[in-house]
Amino acid sequence: MGEQGRKLMAMITAAVNSLNDLEAVVPTVQDLGRRHVGYGVEDSHYETVGEALLWTLEQGLGPAFTPEVKEAWAAMYGIVAKVMIDAAAETKAA
Ligand code: HEM
Repeated sequence: MGEQGRKLMAMITAAVNSLNDLEAVVPTVQDLGRRHVGYGVEDSHYETVGEALLWTLEQGLGPAFTPEVKEAWAAMYGIVAKVMIDAAAETKAA
C-alpha cells in the first residue's frame, strides 16, 4: 500500500506540474484522442465520462468538493476532452 501510495502521488504530482505547461502535453493528449477512436469512443461519450468523473470526485471528497474545486476539475476535463475530440475528428476526416 505504501508503494502504491507513492506511485499515485508521483502520478498526481506529474499531472499537477503539467497544468502549468499544458502545451507540452497537447501532443500526448492528441495521440490519446486518436487511440480512443479505435476503442469505439464517440464525441458524445466524453460528456458522460466527464459527469461520471465529477460525480466520483464529489463522492470521494465530500465537503472538500467545493464549487471552486468542481469548476477547476470541470474546466480541466473540458480542455483535455476537447483536445482529444478535435484530434479524433482529424483522424476520421483523413
Ligand atoms: C479526458 C478523457 C479521457 C482520458 C484522459 C482517457 C484516458 C485513457 C487512457 C490513458 C487509456 C489507456 C489506453 C491508452 O493510453 O490508449 C484509456 C483507455 C480507454 N478509454 Fe479512455 N480516456 C478518456 C475518455 C474516454 C471516454 C469518453 C471513453 C468512452 C466511454 C473512454 C473509453 C476508453 C476505452 C474503451 C479504453 C480502452 C480500455 C481497454 O481496452 O482496456 N475513454 N483511456
